[in-house]
Amino acid sequence: MGNDIQRHMSQLKMSLTRNIPFPNIYVQMLPEYKGWIFVDEEAASQRGEWRQIFSNPSLPLDLEIGCGNGTFFDYQARKEPNRNLLGIELKYKPLVQTVRRVRKDLLPNAKGIRFQARQIELLFGENELDNVFIFFPDPWPRKKQQKNRLMKLDFFEKLYRIQKPGSIVTIKTDDLPYFEFAVEEIKKSPYKILRESRDLHQSPWADENFVTAFERIFIKQGVRINYVQLLKPQSHQ
Ligand SMILES: C[S@@+](CC[C@H](N)C(=O)[O-])C[C@H]1O[C@@H](n2cnc3c(N)ncnc32)[C@H](O)[C@@H]1O
Repeated sequence: MGNDIQRHMSQLKMSLTRNIPFPNIYVQMLPEYKGWIFVDEEAASQRGEWRQIFSNPSLPLDLEIGCGNGTFFDYQARKEPNRNLLGIELKYKPLVQTVRRVRKDLLPNAKGIRFQARQIELLFGENELDNVFIFFPDPWPRKKQQKNRLMKLDFFEKLYRIQKPGSIVTIKTDDLPYFEFAVEEIKKSPYKILRESRDLHQSPWADENFVTAFERIFIKQGVRINYVQLLKPQSHQ
């Protein structure tokens, strides 16, 4: 491991796969997914070089954060064969479920990453990414838990640095208090808000929306979906 990566990994606040005392079945499957799933240090060592893992490195590079069981990830990879797509997930079961969907048809433009998204700066270099999707991030509703939230100013500042100018971030959440909190944080960041709705399914953008696995559950419960889309402006804007 290079010194740079070692230094980075010493800052990492997540348990490492190789230290898990009793690996579950999904952790045991990881060797089968070599070249499809990048774990912990292996992922950090790709920082700045992610495009090179794809068969066509010249395509735009998008990222889904917290891809869950991968319904959107799979849909997006198939809908946009001319864009490469990475998915970050912390938990092994949904990560394997996600990547299994694209591996079964050997899609060349989609790969998974096991990593802590709050430390995204350890994973990507400046301007490395194009568009980013964050769908139903864990809300951490209790006051004591809120330090665990992903959508905070420092995270948006990190994300801004690693995206190319002209790129988009699309966010959906069922949790209105978390959404209001996130929008206030976004307003302090350099992002420009392009779209904002507290009821996506009744908004002008309803038709273009893909319903994710969690979204389906919330719709059944009659919960409104909050939606915001951000732009990292070109420097002249
Ligand atoms: C509520 S689920 C939503 C899954 C999917 N996006 C959907 O809409 O169906 C949130 C997912 O994000 C993952 N996750 C939560 N915090 C994360 C973090 N800090 N880094 C990476 N993944 C995270 C969880 O493991 C979980 O699979």
